[in-house]
Amino acid sequence: MKLNQIHFDLAKEQLHQHQSDCLVIGAFEGKLTVSSEKVDQALKGLLSDLVKSGDITGKVGDVLPLVIAEGIGSKRLLIVGLGKEEEFSVDHLRKAVMSATRVAKSSPAKSLSFALLEQCKNKGKSIPILIQAVADVLYQFNAPRKEAVKAQQLTQIHIVDEKGNSEVTKAVAYGQALINGMALTKDLANMPANMMTPTDLGDAALALAKKFPNVKATVLNKAEIKKLGMGAFLAVAQGSAEKPRFIVLEYRHDKAKDEAPIALVGKGVTFDTGGISLKPGAAMDEMKYDMGGAASVLGTFRALAELNLETHVIGLIPATENMPSGEAVKPGDVITSMSGQTIEVLNTDAEGRLILCDALTYATHFKPKAIVDIATLTGAIIIALGHEVSGLFSNNEDLTAKLKASSEKTRDHVWQFPIWKEIYQPMLDSNFADMGNISAGRGAGSITAACFLERFVEEYPWAHLDVAGTAWTSGKEKGSTARPVPLLLDFINSFHS
Ligand code: BES
Ligand code: MN
Ligand code: ZN
Repeated sequence: MKLNQIHFDLAKEQLHQHQSDCLVIGAFEGKLTVSSEKVDQALKGLLSDLVKSGDITGKVGDVLPLVIAEGIGSKRLLIVGLGKEEEFSVDHLRKAVMSATRVAKSSPAKSLSFALLEQCKNKGKSIPILIQAVADVLYQFNAPRKEAVKAQQLTQIHIVDEKGNSEVTKAVAYGQALINGMALTKDLANMPANMMTPTDLGDAALALAKKFPNVKATVLNKAEIKKLGMGAFLAVAQGSAEKPRFIVLEYRHDKAKDEAPIALVGKGVTFDTGGISLKPGAAMDEMKYDMGGAASVLGTFRALAELNLETHVIGLIPATENMPSGEAVKPGDVITSMSGQTIEVLNTDAEGRLILCDALTYATHFKPKAIVDIATLTGAIIIALGHEVSGLFSNNEDLTAKLKASSEKTRDHVWQFPIWKEIYQPMLDSNFADMGNISAGRGAGSITAACFLERFVEEYPWAHLDVAGTAWTSGKEKGSTARPVPLLLDFINSFHS
């Protein structure tokens, strides 16, 4: 698969000399930024006149495009609003960058430069957000069409920072690796289920390992999965004509040789029909995204590999379809998980937890310092949080604090839910097995799903991210968001500090 490549670099020359097809500078409400003032001088006061006349509003995301004949090195100038100076934040930065990029995208420009950094107090945090904003607008899925859509022509992006120190250089490299990882996640998740089967997902892991020698990938087949005793995973897979795969990724830097790993576990249901507990037909196509957790693990590994971070991470992906058939698991069937605990399958559509529970048991064998699973697990999380915020569930306060800090920094939002044992665990009781796979009542669906998973992590620090609402966007802009790759990468990168 070909990645949509966008290249970022750091330009350290004086702003008016910088040559670009399109230069983006900022304006606050009623006021130019310091960079814009420099350009204003080179243009003999044109911009300050436009502030006075009201053509430059400074409102967040408002863009005034100008074509410039002389005075500065760039052909086009976009003056983008950053809002009120005293209210400036990375959220405003992101919004401004996205609108400017949309305007540049519909122009003939092939290169695009941003001179917005002087406003940012924490460049290490702002630069990846800026880069991510550009990449989110420019990402294009290579859809199979009779006539290929013209490739994105805006591929060269410069971040202009006259002082450009090593922190800035590092942050640009970090942002570049992040969006390369996110592009992989989006490409994998956007593929239709007939072109992204469990076998294809396994091949994608092997291709990643081939491209980056610091990543190892092992793909287990059905016989090998059976040998491990993953009865819950195989119960979901048994109704499908597609063969299941269990993917094991390892990223280990030499300097982290003896470190206990972080284990990332991604739900890899390449298509979720619901099985015998069949889903209704509306928007069922979106269930191709039910491997979004798996895709986020692969994307995070791509970024880790490119950055060569001094860390040790294991990635685990149970990959299968969830189909109804004569061989499918039925409501009421009792199955035995790898942990030995038995499960009464009350609803075959609650399949994510069945494949994850065996992957979590497998994860404990690495004696990890933390386990984080990522899953499009419940529709209920969308009812609770909508499409901007992922659900966070954990048995460990320190791990929770780390994930919340990364979420806050990357603006990849999460909200924590309680998983109080006394209240929620009894809801999984079954008369016919150690537990049911759903709770008897309809309430707290996302929480009882998390409580089910918690039964398989023993005493290891564990967190579960329910990304059913955040992993993709519906409607006209339908597509993978690659969330929570920004959160995961920052979490791994800052685990020690
Ligand atoms: N993959 C779905 C969750 C989902 C639903 C993701 C809608 C995105 C949008 C999951 O496997 C599922 O079907 N969950 C059930 C659980 C229920 C049967 C307890 C659900 O949420 O309805
Ligand atoms: Mn389901
Ligand atoms: Zn599912």
